[in-house]
Amino acid sequence: MRQTFSPSSSIPYNKKCIFASKNFLMKEPDYSILQKHVLSHRIFESELHGIEHWIQVERNGLLLATETGADITIVRLFALFHDSKRADDGFDKEHGPRGAEFAKTCFEEHRFDITQEQFDKLYHACKFHTTEPHSGDATIDTCYDADRLDLGRVGIKLDPNKMATAFGARIAQKSLDANVKPESFREWLEDNQNAFRQPQPFRHSEQP
Ligand SMILES: [Fe+2]
Repeated sequence: MRQTFSPSSSIPYNKKCIFASKNFLMKEPDYSILQKHVLSHRIFESELHGIEHWIQVERNGLLLATETGADITIVRLFALFHDSKRADDGFDKEHGPRGAEFAKTCFEEHRFDITQEQFDKLYHACKFHTTEPHSGDATIDTCYDADRLDLGRVGIKLDPNKMATAFGARIAQKSLDANVKPESFREWLEDNQNAFRQPQPFRHSEQP
């Protein structure tokens, strides 16, 4: 049973503080241990949707998060779980729900420690990543685009209208403008990522 803070008048004040601080002291998941666990529970060893893709989804998500403000813990967990239960490299329409359920099992086994609210977003993103165009939630939509930005590996050119975030759509449009071949997309993104970021508005120094 997951322990969450619940105020109780029967708990001495100093003990309450320990419980109250639990959510603020959550450890960042150990992604390398988690990755080994996820890899050992695959039902299909995929080239197209395997570890190389998971790593690229994480990279894409971290880039997108610089502008979308996504929760990067969820983005990194999504990269690990979303394709973890693929049964083949075809459409496999149930792989999202299977990946979400596997994430739920790992969460309940305390293999990573995040809040219930964070987990709900992770579950939603895994479950619907191939069926929902966008969710309206910045973290979930960042997960969707992190995955979609790696469609070049299967020979698909990006469509800005099918991206879930404005940043994702901008990258997709720039790749079309630059006539980037799908198979070169990863390298192109790596080489150009600083150019995609919106210029930050100029701020006057607060120093006199
Ligand atoms: Fe994927």
